[in-house]
Amino acid sequence: MHGPHFIEANGAKIPAVGFGTWQLRAGACVRAVDAALGAGYRHIDTARMYGNEREVGEAIRASSVSREEVFVTTKVWREDIGAGALERSAEASVRDIGIGPVDLLLIHWPNAAIPLRASIGALCNARRQGLARHIGVSNFPVALLEEALGLATEPLVANQCEYHPRLDQNAVIAACRRHGLAFVSYSPLGKGDIVNAAAVRAIADRLGRAPAQVVLRWHIQQPGVAAIPRSGSPAHIAENFGLFDFSLSADDMAAISALARKDGRLVDMGWARFDS
Ligand SMILES: NC(=O)c1ccc[n+]([C@@H]2O[C@H](COP(=O)([O-])OP(=O)(O)OC[C@H]3O[C@@H](n4cnc5c(N)ncnc54)[C@H](OP(=O)(O)O)[C@@H]3O)[C@@H](O)[C@H]2O)c1
Repeated sequence: MHGPHFIEANGAKIPAVGFGTWQLRAGACVRAVDAALGAGYRHIDTARMYGNEREVGEAIRASSVSREEVFVTTKVWREDIGAGALERSAEASVRDIGIGPVDLLLIHWPNAAIPLRASIGALCNARRQGLARHIGVSNFPVALLEEALGLATEPLVANQCEYHPRLDQNAVIAACRRHGLAFVSYSPLGKGDIVNAAAVRAIADRLGRAPAQVVLRWHIQQPGVAAIPRSGSPAHIAENFGLFDFSLSADDMAAISALARKDGRLVDMGWARFDS
């Protein structure tokens, strides 16, 4: 009844569980991506800013998994989202990853100093130039997302934002659904902290599951939501992909959602307004 699942989003088919690589560098990154591919992940998340695109590409090229099976996302840093600069950043990413066009190219963060029209124009241009199969955004609140959608001449397929049980993201998720985008949860484990929440532990104990599995299952059981947990530990990497042979009841889903609180956001660089 279960199996790895995908999110269909404006023409893209995105594996619902991806592997996050922020802070994984050099050999540790190669080993972690290799372990993730071995455990079954077919979606890897990197960014120009992470400084590990070469290592992500190296691990994919060395693996026995074919290029076509892996969905690779990278992101353009917010200083580089002007016309021309964005395309150059995407070219550098494609060169460094070394597996051909990326599957998804995201604007990493909005930048009020650069007109959105120029950024979205350049993002669409990068797709037309064949640097990316699909394009999208990250850290875009609802109003900015809708403005971006109004400017885009190519489909936007994803908005990657912070999301975990401590943070209510219903408004952004609803906007993504309305417009056919995937919502990709970053810091899906609350940077690791949420596995200690008593409500999560109680459900995990009852189901005979790891707390991280319960939280990640909560993510992917929400329509249109994908999650990209990060780990440097082979045991956690495997554990976090073991989500396709159980499900959470509506009551358990609600109990986990009830952990949301007003100060639940962990990542706020002040670059986006989150109240829209
Ligand atoms: N677009 C953006 O602006 C943005 C911002 C932040 C993150 N991201 C992306 O999202 C990815 C994930 O977010 P994140 O790295 O912030 O945090 P996260 O995935 O929520 O949490 C990672 C932490 O959880 C721990 N962990 C992982 N699996 C575990 C398990 N099964 N049991 C217990 N602890 C576990 C890890 O430790 P171990 O290594 O010891 O397992 C690590 O310390 C990033 O790597 C990056 O790709 C994007």
